[in-house]
Amino acid sequence: MAYMANEVTDIADMPRGGPDASWLDRLLETDCPEYLDRDDVDDEVKRAIVSALDRIGSLFGEHDRNAALVLREVADIVDPTILELGAGHGALSRRLLEQHPTAHVTVSDVNPESVAAMAASDLGDNPRATVRPVDATAIDAADGSFDLAVFALSFHHLRPAQAARVLAEGTRVAGEMLVIDLPRVPSPLHVAKLAALAPLALWWPFAHDGLISSLRSYSPSALRALGAHAGIDVDVSTNPFDRQVVRARRRG
Ligand SMILES: C[S@@+](CC[C@H](N)C(=O)[O-])C[C@H]1O[C@@H](n2cnc3c(N)ncnc32)[C@H](O)[C@@H]1O
Repeated sequence: MAYMANEVTDIADMPRGGPDASWLDRLLETDCPEYLDRDDVDDEVKRAIVSALDRIGSLFGEHDRNAALVLREVADIVDPTILELGAGHGALSRRLLEQHPTAHVTVSDVNPESVAAMAASDLGDNPRATVRPVDATAIDAADGSFDLAVFALSFHHLRPAQAARVLAEGTRVAGEMLVIDLPRVPSPLHVAKLAALAPLALWWPFAHDGLISSLRSYSPSALRALGAHAGIDVDVSTNPFDRQVVRARRRG
């Protein structure tokens, strides 16, 4: 696509800090995958990271805050249908089902072990939940199947071309897509954050993935460039000390 050709000749080469990223920001990124994305990493290690995400998200109220963001978007819809992509442990979908009496939720992940674990949990028995594998870059669902698609803490896992594809796919199958992810912190703060995480990352897989997540997070300008590349309208709200939220919709 031609958009921003003067700044990003190929979206695949766009820095995580966006077309206007500083030299320091460009240094603070990596192609190194997280354990969660590696085929050569034991499933037990991946399950431990996903469980830690669930526990830490509960401890700090992140799942509840994410649920509040989702429920606000569907507040005017009587019986909303929601697709959660990259659900991992399913805590967000669980909150949505608890807090909305008529919402139907499709709980999904690309990782088959995560899908099996969620299907074997209470989610598998909930008549308003469907648990199934879905690759967010190629969603197996008809256009407009859902009112809302949500992708929490997962977008940074994807390289720019895949991330743009997720925006296109999420807004194809749902009226609106909500991406909730780590913010890309300003470079001087980023250096301090990485220095604090580095010693932990040597022995704690959760911190290892946290450190790489930080280096792979997208800036607001990168998110806008991805939306433009996908031909999608995106509204980005960011807070360097909290989550950033992208609301994406098809144009027209
Ligand atoms: C860091 S975990 C986030 C889990 C959960 N959403 C949360 O908020 O804690 C990232 C999740 O994204 C999933 N994921 C990565 N690539 C994906 C893709 N292409 N499609 C769907 N899920 C994907 C991983 O399997 C993993 O479960």
